[in-house]
Amino acid sequence: MTVPAVDDAILTLLNVESAYGPIKAIRGVSLNVRRGQIATVLGSNGAGKTTILKTISGIIDPRKGSVEFKGENITAKDPVHIVHRGLVHVPEGREVFPLLSVRDNLLMGAYARADRDAIARDMEAVYGYFPILAERSHQDAGLLSGGQQQMLAISRALMAKPELILLDEPSLGLSPKLTKEIFEIVVRINRERGTTILLVEQNANMALNASDYGYVLENGRIVMEDTCARLREKEDIKEFYLGMKEEGVRAERRWKKKKTWR
Ligand SMILES: Nc1ncnc2c1ncn2[C@@H]1O[C@H](COP(=O)(O)OP(=O)(O)O)[C@@H](O)[C@H]1O
Ligand SMILES: [Mg+2]
Repeated sequence: MTVPAVDDAILTLLNVESAYGPIKAIRGVSLNVRRGQIATVLGSNGAGKTTILKTISGIIDPRKGSVEFKGENITAKDPVHIVHRGLVHVPEGREVFPLLSVRDNLLMGAYARADRDAIARDMEAVYGYFPILAERSHQDAGLLSGGQQQMLAISRALMAKPELILLDEPSLGLSPKLTKEIFEIVVRINRERGTTILLVEQNANMALNASDYGYVLENGRIVMEDTCARLREKEDIKEFYLGMKEEGVRAERRWKKKKTWR
């Protein structure tokens, strides 16, 4: 599927293909992220979500296709260059520096900046979004809970003053309550700071509620795209990604089992 570039796209992928040796992880992925929006890529485990983000941030070089950010072709560019252009990646599994304090982790996020006053203001803003990080600012990041580490990873990204944040499965391993809290703050960050966000998730329910526009990824290919309001209404999305079909299948199995016992 080829998506034409849209005028207000901050990020455009065109027919991107990335592989690990002989394994093609994504095959001809095209997508747009509009400036100021939250876009999401939904897909089950192994669909290729992380590979898309790694290809955008320059960790993996694609075999084919192009990545354009703010009108610049950044395909296979050095990840450090891409960060300096204002695109920051929050990786799967958070990856905070466990032996550094919370505060020093945040300062690491701002390493490329020289505007000291603005850095101090952004640190205050981050503590405003996640007050628990202010309380723990002098503790080692490795002592934080999984949810707090996710908060720190997002905050560290904010310290780079990004225009676009790539967010890889923030809900992974977190309770539904904590996931909801984190998603609410992600939406606030988007609305209050105007930061554009590309979120990839298995948790379709949360992602569809938080995002403006969504893509569905299956086996490395985008098979559907629409506004999240419309995706939420689609029967096949409800069935396959919101788990409703699964429950139906399980109920049927239970029923069949009962019958054989009789
Ligand atoms: N380092 C790797 N080496 C080989 N295969 C990989 C590697 N990372 C991912 N893959 C494969 O690429 C596919 C897509 O993986 P990934 O992008 O991590 O999916 P997702 O993030 O949606 O779970 C999967 O089939 C996975 O097994
Ligand atoms: Mg992944």
